[in-house]
Amino acid sequence: MDILLWKTAKQFITQCYQELGKPEDILKERLQEVKEEISETGSYTHTYEELAHGARMAWRNSNRCIGRLFWQTLHVFDERRVQTESQVAAALKQHVEFATNEGKIRPAITVFRPELPNKETIKIWNHQLIRYAGYQTESGIVGDPASMDFTAECEKRGWRGRQSDYDVLPWVIQIGNRKPELFPVNLQIVKEVQITHPDLTWFKDLSLQWYAVPIISDMKLEIGGIHYQAAPFNGWYMGTEIGARNLADDFRYNKLPLVAEWMGLDTSKPSSLWKDRALVELNAAVLYSFKEAGVSIVDHHTAAQQLKIFEQNEAIEGRECTGDWTWLIPPVSPAATHIFHKEYNPSIQTPNYFHQNKPY
Ligand code: ARG
Repeated sequence: MDILLWKTAKQFITQCYQELGKPEDILKERLQEVKEEISETGSYTHTYEELAHGARMAWRNSNRCIGRLFWQTLHVFDERRVQTESQVAAALKQHVEFATNEGKIRPAITVFRPELPNKETIKIWNHQLIRYAGYQTESGIVGDPASMDFTAECEKRGWRGRQSDYDVLPWVIQIGNRKPELFPVNLQIVKEVQITHPDLTWFKDLSLQWYAVPIISDMKLEIGGIHYQAAPFNGWYMGTEIGARNLADDFRYNKLPLVAEWMGLDTSKPSSLWKDRALVELNAAVLYSFKEAGVSIVDHHTAAQQLKIFEQNEAIEGRECTGDWTWLIPPVSPAATHIFHKEYNPSIQTPNYFHQNKPY
């Protein structure tokens, strides 16, 4: 009998059933059943309710996430019966379509079967289900520098992108020790937004764009001692993720010098604050463009307000709201939000989402 698993399971089932308001005798019965399954098989199977609430608790416990107010709205796809690589790809396609919802983005997670004794593990190699390739070329890096290693892996396996700045990477799915299978993503289902600016008419000529839905696919969902290493999940973007990081970081798309130049700013000295000015307009452009395209997005001030409400809700429920301050503060104007001015307890609670080693 795996005592550690049993202890972890018991703790989760108890908390889960309490939160769901289940009567004591139902809890007792369920604990007995779980205990027997663990001693007979070395693992146990979550009911759909446990899986769904566990995945939502995991979001609630995500210390780095500013968007946790909406944890209860997470839509949970149970794909634990999936066996083959193409079935995985079909489930991912369904996830993208459901989450995108023509722009009215719905937070969702698709859960594949967990690590199990005598079962081959399902692995998704992608960092996000939709992400742009990055290539090293003679004339410098093309696309997203953060994707260069993964892009090289895809090319090694026969994939070939158009070498543009915004090539959507294929899905790489591996089951057990089999050769990973590649699935090109049907661009029909990938919503993207061209970046324009409410006043600066030349902004569209920079040809910047981003995809609508961030779907993290390389983290492990842990619920009650069960490890779901393939469980892609999404929310909607906060503008700064795109405008202050993806398009702005000098190790990503590095667009601040270009934006500043078009704005006619003095880039010869830092003290002209050209970076700050360019950042503000780039972020205004991202928010404006998503809004115009009818794609859900939240600005960092609103997101911080939502986190504050989440903090209050958690206090009412008698739970401590843990957090990672270094991630919760937005990358622009952090001190203009309440987050900057308080401390967060960084303890890690489970269920939660965890980083795992890259398979490549
Ligand atoms: N920061 C990541 C990106 O820019 C996405 C992380 C998840 N973000 C979210 N809003 N759920 O692609």
